[in-house]
Amino acid sequence: MSAVFVVTAYGGPEGQQLIQREAPAPRSGEIAISVRAAGVNPADAKRREGAFGTSGRLPLAMGLEASGVVTAVGEGTEGFAVGDAVLGAPARGLGAFAEHTVLDASQSVAKPAEVSFPDAATLPVAGTTAYDLIHQLAPAAGQTVLVLGAGGGVGQMALQVAAAHGLTVIGVASQSKRTLVEATGATFVPSGPGVAERVREAAQSGVDLLADLVGGEPLRELAPTMTSPAGIVSAADAETALALGGAGRERSAGALEAITALVRDGLVDPHVEQTHPLVWAAEALAAVEAGHSRGKSVIIP
Ligand SMILES: NC(=O)c1ccc[n+]([C@@H]2O[C@H](COP(=O)([O-])OP(=O)(O)OC[C@H]3O[C@@H](n4cnc5c(N)ncnc54)[C@H](OP(=O)(O)O)[C@@H]3O)[C@@H](O)[C@H]2O)c1
Repeated sequence: MSAVFVVTAYGGPEGQQLIQREAPAPRSGEIAISVRAAGVNPADAKRREGAFGTSGRLPLAMGLEASGVVTAVGEGTEGFAVGDAVLGAPARGLGAFAEHTVLDASQSVAKPAEVSFPDAATLPVAGTTAYDLIHQLAPAAGQTVLVLGAGGGVGQMALQVAAAHGLTVIGVASQSKRTLVEATGATFVPSGPGVAERVREAAQSGVDLLADLVGGEPLRELAPTMTSPAGIVSAADAETALALGGAGRERSAGALEAITALVRDGLVDPHVEQTHPLVWAAEALAAVEAGHSRGKSVIIP
């Protein structure tokens, strides 16, 4: 038997628990892994609450990104072998908060030896989002990017992806994240009342790209600091971004390979700041759900 953290009833945290079940077997296009680490994301709690629909069969395994070692390869699945270290997204109906899971091979890549299992587990969701936010509008080197929500899991990687791309980077986050933001080489601007004025002082020719991880009023407040609203890309609130003249995040095909290479080459550090054993998955989720994460949180089975 193998432990997995599941949703048994859509809604609040009372509808989630750790259960035992047979380790799942891979089908065609899938690889089974012994999980070494799993990244925690705000989307995990949103999924439990039913924000992405409530038609999924229960119990629903939780966790959207994982790293581990391949234990079996589905029939006809090419590119992976038993014993390979990998990172990727769970196959449909399966989850990463587990001792064993099955990954979608088309959303998985080999884990470079230089990348730790906890760091690798942050790349399929948070890492690819950071990569896409910065690259979606193909900004030219030297342009100015502002990351809103710069101290969280996606935000701090977005700062580093932008720096690696040769952009001038500004990070907006709460005071407690000043050192985290400045360590990436970005200019730190504290969030809160008056933030737009502080951004104008930091970016006197205007912001060319706004990578948004917060949405709502904070995004609306910063939109006038831009050279054009078409430069807004949001992972948190596509509706507000579209209303302002920007866009939601679009997934790109090569993002997982690209962000993995940036971490391998030491250009991006996913900043895993908290690790939790699988038996504390509920606490790990609650901490991320509170909305003020610093870097990434990872579950280690
Ligand atoms: N569309 C997609 O494919 C996709 C993928 C990944 C994530 N997302 C979404 O993107 C958002 C961020 O994800 P994440 O994993 O980075 O979340 P996270 O790790 O929880 O970080 C969110 C960050 O936003 C900061 N924040 C909150 N209010 C702020 C404000 N007014 N100004 C500046 N910063 C503020 C928080 O801390 P402080 O307030 O303490 O600074 C925290 O550091 C979530 O809504 C998530 O669901 C979407």
